[in-house]
Amino acid sequence: MCPRAERSGRARALAVPAAQGVDRVLITRARLRRRIRELAAQLSEDYAGGEVVCVGALNGVICFLADLMRELSVPAPVELVHVDRFLEGGSHTVDMPNQFREGLRGRDVLIVEDIVDTGVTLRALVDKVRAEAPATLKICALLDKPAHRQAEVHLDYVGFSIPPVFVVGYGLDYEGFYRNLPFVGVVDSAVWPPALLERPKSGSNLD
Ligand code: XMP
Ligand code: MG
Repeated sequence: MCPRAERSGRARALAVPAAQGVDRVLITRARLRRRIRELAAQLSEDYAGGEVVCVGALNGVICFLADLMRELSVPAPVELVHVDRFLEGGSHTVDMPNQFREGLRGRDVLIVEDIVDTGVTLRALVDKVRAEAPATLKICALLDKPAHRQAEVHLDYVGFSIPPVFVVGYGLDYEGFYRNLPFVGVVDSAVWPPALLERPKSGSNLD
């Protein structure tokens, strides 16, 4: 039975393995840990003597941000933004309802992203942050999927460049599943047909 079906009805109460529907591990927990340490070392060097305000887009970034910030040796205040991405009339719309709680004006800001695919979400977040007039703005993405890029974005720090496959785990979900997996995996296309994964559903939150 596919995980989506198991979510509803009587089967909901059954114990379903967290990784059911995941075909293979793309990035192991150990590789994630090693690469995040490297990124944090680089960031700590680049921001040495100052602070870096980390702006994270919810929900996908939770694991990456939590691990990255704990490896930084510079002060790193955090701002979280809710990002809703919708498909409206065939084009993507990004909505970010909340305001930044602390001003970003004149500060060194780092956008921390889980994954950049088309770049549409990140582009909108960059515009929102720029409107706050930070002193500097850089971008750190754990995963870069350059094959589908539509919007122009420059990534200053990248964890891993990955092929155009739908990945889950380590914060990334599909339909609420898999976020708590400690690795990045590729979903089983027999369980989740590619057409389902590629096309954002109208009116849905694609965090
Ligand atoms: P764009 O296309 O705007 O997409 O760069 C960024 C957001 O889309 C989601 N996304 C994914 N989520 N596995 C996921 O679980 C993926 O392979 C994937 N590709 C894109 C994600 O929310 C990301 O922030
Ligand atoms: Mg994201």
